[in-house]
Amino acid sequence: MIITSLRLFASQIGWRLGVLFFIALSAGIAEGFGVSMILPLLESDIGRSETTLGKLIRAIFNLVELPTTGTNILIMLVLFFFVRAILFIGQTWYQAGLLANHLSDIRGKLIRSIFNTDYVHLTKYDAGYLTNGVVREIESVNHGVRMLIDLMVALVMASVYILLPVLMQPVITISLFALAIPIAGLSYVMIQKTRRLSIRLTEIHGRQESFFIEGIRNAKYVKATGRVKVISSRMVSETNRVSEIFRKFFILGGITRYAPEPLVVFVMAAVIIIYTRGFDHSITEILFLMFLFYQSAKNMLKVQSSLRQFIEATGSLRLYEKLRNDLDIHAIKDDSRENKPNLDAPINLSNITVNYPNAATAALTQIDLRIPNRSTVALVGASGSGKTTIANLVCGLIIPSSGEISIDGVSYDSISTQALQQSIGYVTQESAVFNGSLLENVTLWHPEPDIERVSDILIQLDLKNIGASSEKKDFINNIVGGDGAQLSGGERQRLSIARELYRNPKLMILDEATSALDSELELKIDELLESQKGSKTFLIIAHRLSTVRNADLIYVLHEGIVTESGTFNELISANGEFAQMVKMQSF
Ligand SMILES: Nc1ncnc2c1ncn2[C@@H]1O[C@H](COP(=O)(O)OP(=O)(O)OP(=O)(O)O)[C@@H](O)[C@H]1O
Ligand SMILES: [Mg+2]
Repeated sequence: MIITSLRLFASQIGWRLGVLFFIALSAGIAEGFGVSMILPLLESDIGRSETTLGKLIRAIFNLVELPTTGTNILIMLVLFFFVRAILFIGQTWYQAGLLANHLSDIRGKLIRSIFNTDYVHLTKYDAGYLTNGVVREIESVNHGVRMLIDLMVALVMASVYILLPVLMQPVITISLFALAIPIAGLSYVMIQKTRRLSIRLTEIHGRQESFFIEGIRNAKYVKATGRVKVISSRMVSETNRVSEIFRKFFILGGITRYAPEPLVVFVMAAVIIIYTRGFDHSITEILFLMFLFYQSAKNMLKVQSSLRQFIEATGSLRLYEKLRNDLDIHAIKDDSRENKPNLDAPINLSNITVNYPNAATAALTQIDLRIPNRSTVALVGASGSGKTTIANLVCGLIIPSSGEISIDGVSYDSISTQALQQSIGYVTQESAVFNGSLLENVTLWHPEPDIERVSDILIQLDLKNIGASSEKKDFINNIVGGDGAQLSGGERQRLSIARELYRNPKLMILDEATSALDSELELKIDELLESQKGSKTFLIIAHRLSTVRNADLIYVLHEGIVTESGTFNELISANGEFAQMVKMQSF
């Protein structure tokens, strides 16, 4: 399990981990040599030392042809520590860049996966879960990678400090390895516990975020109906669970940090007693040995603590991998298709069936529909009859379960969806308002906007006075903040229409685009759109049937089936379902 996690985390930064290992190893060796210089300072005559380390030090001095005088040894010591410092600074510098890149890299990949996945698949996720994934869990994965690097560095340092005593006193050192057994046992237990907690934590974080976003999105309703307590208590109970896991993490951290220390000291004390009493070793050598050993133990503890923190991030990595996998499986297969659609041609839906995943019944069943170019086609029918589903099909947002959609006789399967969508304007049933100025909302941050056109459109749609006034003089810079919650429903709709009018596409889809407007404004917009009729294709969805009076062709939908079609007058004469609907609205 740990190995799998290590492999997964290591694959996040790949070969660069090798570079870091190499730098850490070089720094560790420099530190090892530096520290080795302390031995000759302690020993009266390094020239006669019989230990392997003593011989090694003599060899170094022979290599640079220097006598082993006290000053030379000190110079060497300082030099080695300089090299060590430079290497460690280099490592930090390299690591900082690496971690920063890693963070933007994995976040970018997840965001791309989210937006590349099929729309219907995306609707299965809630915003809180995805937000938590993109913001919190990604940072946790990044922290995990950092801990992996720390772990590697500590492991290198621990090895250096183990190697030095081995070179001095192999028997003592190897006997001390016995210490590793209880520490490893303790580590294992802690790691298992940490891993389980980590997975639970990511789940709770996701839920907490969902509840929060849900609460904020529905704040108006929740507050106005005195439901704050119910909604916030859901959030609080999740927060309590998070706190409980933090408490456990904290305790585990404490145990991991402090429990092995007395063990280390105990074994060291035992070694001092055995070797000073039983064997003939100088106390300075034993103390130096203990110092080295203590350094090694300290680094081993660091290994353990980094390993624990790294395991804390496994839940996040698991979530990240699972989420990306699931999103990528449903990624839309685009957009190598070169075929650009000819929007100056009719669109045909033939024998289309749409089954949403997990839905009890089909949203559309074997429908045939024709949208002649430069005409106005309207879809009417009861709520849930499949109107929006048709609009989503026409703009390539969803793919039919069976049947074919074509434009100019060319199947949607063989044209570039992106090119298609870039030539379509779509006022969705839920108005889309962004945090930004009116100008930014209309042009979607276009770098070179046509200011005059934007102003004209906003004035035509009576949007001159909406949003918070900005310091810049022109009203187009008024700010629409708070996801547009400060706007009225009709203002949000008009702003969405303004954006599509500015885009001036060949095909315009309007899904209940004027449902929240008063008759006067609706008439104004109808007239505005009427003036464009003949120059582009309109697909209009409306409950208010007055809006579809002038349509060239009306399709009536009933539970996913087209029951009638024709012009307004034809349908009235037929005296069918549409005629009934018109009578009921008696406009
Ligand atoms: N993403 C989805 N996943 C599952 N089912 C869906 C999804 N979107 C829509 N449906 C279902 O498909 C059916 C048709 O929905 P659609 O949105 O097309 O209706 P509509 O005619 O636009 O209704 P309304 O007038 O209320 O907007 C509904 O029963 C709806 O519950
Ligand atoms: Mg709809």
